[in-house]
Amino acid sequence: MEIVICPDADEVGRVAAAKVAQVCRAAETPVLGLATGSSPLAIYRHLQAMVADGRLDLSGASAFALDEYVGLDPAHPESYRSVIHRTVTEPLGLDPARVHVPDGAADDLEEAAAAYDRAIRDAGGVDVQILGIGSNGHIGFNEPTSSFASRTRIKTLAERTRLDNQRFFDSLEEVPTHCLTQGLGTIMEARHVLLVAQGANKAPAVAASVEGPVSSMWPASVLQFHQHATVVVDEEAAAQLQLADYYRHVYAGKPAWQRFA
Ligand code: GLP
Repeated sequence: MEIVICPDADEVGRVAAAKVAQVCRAAETPVLGLATGSSPLAIYRHLQAMVADGRLDLSGASAFALDEYVGLDPAHPESYRSVIHRTVTEPLGLDPARVHVPDGAADDLEEAAAAYDRAIRDAGGVDVQILGIGSNGHIGFNEPTSSFASRTRIKTLAERTRLDNQRFFDSLEEVPTHCLTQGLGTIMEARHVLLVAQGANKAPAVAASVEGPVSSMWPASVLQFHQHATVVVDEEAAAQLQLADYYRHVYAGKPAWQRFA
């Protein structure tokens, strides 16, 4: 696991976007794994700037979102379909036909979930999966005690997650109770995983997931088993990392050929 500590949230976005760009340039037709939430927004902004000035070509890229609410009209502005369209597909100029979001409005949710995993596989798998982290350590919507072997499936949202996401809705009652999310097993099949976190309220989850024992109580800790995992955090989110000085030392001493930002 590579841990990069950045001075502020915008630098987290710049460094993480550079990692995404590095992976995309090496892939013939890149397949992006997209996350919603506020954490990855700075990545998308920096990618947009790279596309705009010709440093990055995503015209052939396809993309798969991590998750979607169940029981929310896909046209609702806070459905993840809408959020991904607004924050990624349009600004990055991706082909909307190649941007996929789980179908949380399907009549048969189990089949929709299985079809989503098949679609990822048929696209050749995800090259780089962007991840935020919930304050309870969830990635996607894999709440604590999610199986490390899990595939895309229906999940019940933890109350803490509903409270965290209440800010996107008018009231807590409006926050959906269920979702479709890629499983931890699905996420772990991406060739690179890139987790970003900013702010003090993420510090306990970051420390437990990066340095704690691997446990489904902190779902993001499964990333310790990934061969190509990069974690980019700001100072506040890094505040509880015991080996922060070591990560800074490693990053500062990286040979040129290993650098991506
Ligand atoms: C959301 C999403 C996750 C996201 C996390 C943190 O509910 N399902 O993919 O990483 O919670 O969100 P934020 O980045 O807004 O803190």
